[in-house]
Amino acid sequence: MARRDGRLRLGAFLSGSGAHAGSWRHPQADADASINFERYRQYAQTLERGRFDALFLNDNVAVGELDPRVLRSSAYSLRWDPLTLLPALAVVTRHIGLIATANTSFNEPYNIARSFASLDHLSAGRAGWNLVTALIGGENFNQAAHLPHADRYARAEEFFDVVTGLWDSWADDAFPLDKASGTWLETARMRVLDHQGEHFRVRGPLNAPRPVQGWPVIAQAGSSQAGRALAAHSAELVFTAQQTLSEGRAFYADMHQRLALAGRAAESLLVFPGLAPVVGRTTSEAQEKHEQLQALVDPEAALKALSFLLDIGIDLERLPAEAPVVLPEPLPLTERHQSRQQLVVDLIRRERPTARQLLARLGAGGHRLLVGTPSQIVEEMACWFEEGAADGFNLLFTHLPGGLDDFVGQVVPELQRLGLFRREYEGRTLRENLGLRYVPNRHFQG
Ligand SMILES: Cc1cc2nc3c(=O)[nH]c(=O)nc-3n(C[C@H](O)[C@H](O)[C@H](O)COP(=O)(O)O)c2cc1C
Repeated sequence: MARRDGRLRLGAFLSGSGAHAGSWRHPQADADASINFERYRQYAQTLERGRFDALFLNDNVAVGELDPRVLRSSAYSLRWDPLTLLPALAVVTRHIGLIATANTSFNEPYNIARSFASLDHLSAGRAGWNLVTALIGGENFNQAAHLPHADRYARAEEFFDVVTGLWDSWADDAFPLDKASGTWLETARMRVLDHQGEHFRVRGPLNAPRPVQGWPVIAQAGSSQAGRALAAHSAELVFTAQQTLSEGRAFYADMHQRLALAGRAAESLLVFPGLAPVVGRTTSEAQEKHEQLQALVDPEAALKALSFLLDIGIDLERLPAEAPVVLPEPLPLTERHQSRQQLVVDLIRRERPTARQLLARLGAGGHRLLVGTPSQIVEEMACWFEEGAADGFNLLFTHLPGGLDDFVGQVVPELQRLGLFRREYEGRTLRENLGLRYVPNRHFQG
């Protein structure tokens, strides 16, 4: 299947000191990455050298389970606020897109529209919003518990409409700033939103200019049925976790079918499965690197964390070491992360692993781990691209900066040599580099 210019797009999904549960203890990992700006400056600059499309920051608005056994060895209790870190990175980078996760459950659309419009101007058109409904966090926002899945998605649909409506408050040329005539604003080039909906009442207009890209790039993560429905309506880049080529192809085809039903063009959406590479000069070196990472994981704590993610009422850490995991019947559906629960359940049914084997398979939180040489990794990436399972990938580096340096130093040159990836940035804005169109204002064309 020939798509776009025949080239892959690449995002870097960064979190703390890496995506692997054992990352922070690795000798080539910065254990203080969540609290040391210089680390992230360096990663962003390495990613630009590797010509990545975007740096993609995940987020949570809670520490999560307060189990001391988990907290003691997990590095994810601290994290940068994406909308504080990315503006700082905007001024020390020139090309890379800056995509921040911001949830629709515990924010207000006006604040989100304003922050992302500001980031788009600060970065000269490199901002993106990863729209999520939040995995956890109700307890920090006046709720007794987390909000139900269906309620979160209903709010998210309306939230998106309000944010994008606010971005269309002004024509691109609404502000002549003409000192001679005293005209700061052409008032006829303003549109007051006046939104009255089930969840929001927002008058507008937004007190920020229209974003440089029309709208910042809209990314979305959440692959349940409700998540896919939201993506078909809103997203231009879908970040998803897919373990096998056939699952990846099915997801891609489903998203494109939904897109067509929503009346949107096929080229208006990019699908980015997550991919966590472990790169070695030889296959055995790559395997050794993977084993080294696994050895840094506290299995009891990691299995507890995995039980929380899976959320089917099994305490994986209590299961006998040699016995395959047995799933309960019927399976309780989680209110938190339904697509990740499904992915793990499918994996258990397919491979019948013990709890420890499951832990090794899910070292990158459910994203596909790919252990191999640069050419083996490139071959797999090309295969998913050509077989219609991916337009690009969100790379999850097992540890930072080691895993990132391996990828940029060894895999990117191989992708470039095969013509699968750019050697220079094509455009100025994130949209231009991704091959996505500028979004014209619905009220003021031309
Ligand atoms: C690949 C992927 C990445 C995600 N990243 C985040 C994240 O950084 N923060 C967050 O709160 N939720 C994240 N989510 C989940 C979303 O919040 C989602 O809106 C919701 O919680 C449930 O996901 P579901 O649609 O898969 O059930 C992610 C989901 C996927 C599939």
